[in-house]
Amino acid sequence: MLQELKACIEKAQHLTVLTGAGVSAESGIPTFRGGDGLWNRYRPEELATPEAFSRDPETVWRWYAWRMERVFSAQPNPAHLGFAKLQEMGRLACLITQNVDDLHERAGSRDVLHLHGTLRQMRCVACGSRIPVHRPPEVPPLPVCACGGLLRPDVVWFGESLSPDVLQLAFDEASRSDVMIVAGTSAVVHPAASLPLEVKRHGGTVIEINPDATPLSSMADLSIRMPAGMAITENLGLGQS
Ligand code: APR
Repeated sequence: MLQELKACIEKAQHLTVLTGAGVSAESGIPTFRGGDGLWNRYRPEELATPEAFSRDPETVWRWYAWRMERVFSAQPNPAHLGFAKLQEMGRLACLITQNVDDLHERAGSRDVLHLHGTLRQMRCVACGSRIPVHRPPEVPPLPVCACGGLLRPDVVWFGESLSPDVLQLAFDEASRSDVMIVAGTSAVVHPAASLPLEVKRHGGTVIEINPDATPLSSMADLSIRMPAGMAITENLGLGQS
């Protein structure tokens, strides 16, 4: 099984990786739908939608400030380090993530495609300016832009569309991938979950790394039932810092 993973990576001409919250779980960041997932403790429609933000921006900002605190104090784990190493070795064409944390970047990955945005930026609802986030904002007061507009986390909320440019780039990468590793995602949120299908549609190989089965498992060429950190480190010799 893991020899197959190694062989697939070695023979890949255009290897891409798609990650989800499970890849950051080993850094202590809660996933969304697992046993102690965020959506089991909070209602996404009350915290991660434009309606929630316009109804009660302070509550939404307090939740995101808490998430930023968790993310900014977390460290990259062997899965993040391993994917960064693959890119450094010239073996990885593109890393696409659904995660809004910056652990891939802090592990050394470059040009990460963030499908759902990033906690490392805020965006003005009025003028659209993007402002880097170096530390979580103290809320209240609500963070405001120099133009006076309200700032929001620069993430994609439920009911919002992804950046067309980022999405096009991701689908272009998927259509060129002869191998895609899909790690740490429940594969239930589209359009991200359609990327592996695009790889298959073009005759590519899809490898899933996830301790649990997902809707992707049945069409994956290889399903590795283990945590991503273990799969990357113990079997590919990557992931050591
Ligand atoms: N290694 C690999 N996979 C893991 C690990 C681990 N150590 N721990 C948990 N997982 C798996 C779980 O089995 C689950 O399938 O990670 C997956 C996490 O699924 P979700 O919590 O649904 O996260 P994700 O798939 O990234 O969610 C997609 O939904 O809420 C939105 O925008 C949010 O980007 C997010 C999107």
